[in-house]
Amino acid sequence: MSKCVLAYSGGLDTSVAVRWIAEQYDVEVIALAVDVGEEKNYEAIRQKALDVGAIESLVVDVKQEFFDDFISRAIGANLMYEHQYPAFTALARPLLAKTQVEVAREYGAQYVAHGCTGKGNDQVRFEVTYAALAPELKVIAPAREWGMTREQEIDYAQQHNIPVPVGKGSPYSTDTNLWGRSIECGQIEDPTREGPEDAWEWTNSIAAAPEEPTYLEIAFEQGVPVALDGEELPGPQLISRLNTIGGENAVGRIDMIENRLVGIKSRELYEAPAAVILLTAHRDLESLTLDRETMHFKPYLELRYAELVYYGLWYTPLREAIDAFVSETQKRVTGKVTVKLHKGSCQAVARASERSLYQYELATYAAEDIFDQSASPGFIHIWGLPARVAAQIDRNAQNPSRPGQ
Ligand code: ARG
Repeated sequence: MSKCVLAYSGGLDTSVAVRWIAEQYDVEVIALAVDVGEEKNYEAIRQKALDVGAIESLVVDVKQEFFDDFISRAIGANLMYEHQYPAFTALARPLLAKTQVEVAREYGAQYVAHGCTGKGNDQVRFEVTYAALAPELKVIAPAREWGMTREQEIDYAQQHNIPVPVGKGSPYSTDTNLWGRSIECGQIEDPTREGPEDAWEWTNSIAAAPEEPTYLEIAFEQGVPVALDGEELPGPQLISRLNTIGGENAVGRIDMIENRLVGIKSRELYEAPAAVILLTAHRDLESLTLDRETMHFKPYLELRYAELVYYGLWYTPLREAIDAFVSETQKRVTGKVTVKLHKGSCQAVARASERSLYQYELATYAAEDIFDQSASPGFIHIWGLPARVAAQIDRNAQNPSRPGQ
């Protein structure tokens, strides 16, 4: 019998999908839960998939790989889609799909499946990854294909002994991993209203945050965060600590109108304290260690990088090429940054590096000054030459009777 590897979350949609795929496609379903740092009971999820009819159920922990291959690169590229969203869902999808492909190969499956609808970005990210890594696999997208309303889905679940959340359940749809948490649906879909307080789980409101600021010292090696307040930590742990500390201080709430790849504008709430803190610190350390021209050029590529990650184009030559550029720049980004968290704000307030390009004797106005000010007039004379010529020609054009004035 053919087999299908389903990306399984343990929720209603993918639980219904286990049954639906088996019936519609006459295949055996292997459920795969991939742990990218959503803190949930994976053993219960593994068991649930078997209970609803999967022939095999697997949990794979990829947190370290998520940090090493995805989050670290995102930090190097200061990845913020549309300057606000750290793109954590977009970063995790290619890794989920890649893990699925590996399992499909191991089990000799012919199909892969995901629970995404046909309106979002995630379907694209899954399927472009399948296409790049394993074009021979056939794709099943139950939630896009079955055409059931929520009520019909619940009826279907009840008929097949699939547990349905009691009561109304949460009005929100969420997605969580190490790098952030997204909240959609319900009242959030009305962009004229402030996001409801009960949507937030990781972050305090500003009012509830401590009165006193919290200072943190973050150490980076070649652009990768390696220690917090002097303690070396594996990336995933460092991030989850920053999510806790940042969240307490109300840091990392994001409320935005976002352009989806499929053309829809959507209102999104995100909480991503660690991402906000680490990108603030990382950018600051870059300002100390990167030369001016690299620093001014890099954001052009960062913009493109954010876009292509968001668009599901992780496994593409352009992503690899930009990563190669970014990793070249990060060779110098080693040092420490102190950030101050206070009532929702996160600011870099001190920094130091053995690769620092800051030179006190050049910057100072005190007696130690070694900058040669007598060289400036010549520099300005030549620097200003194009401006002088252009302005002169404009004046001549406005006043042709008096050339050369
Ligand atoms: N709008 C975000 C993105 O496209 C978040 C999507 C959340 N996904 C989800 N299945 N709930 O990356």
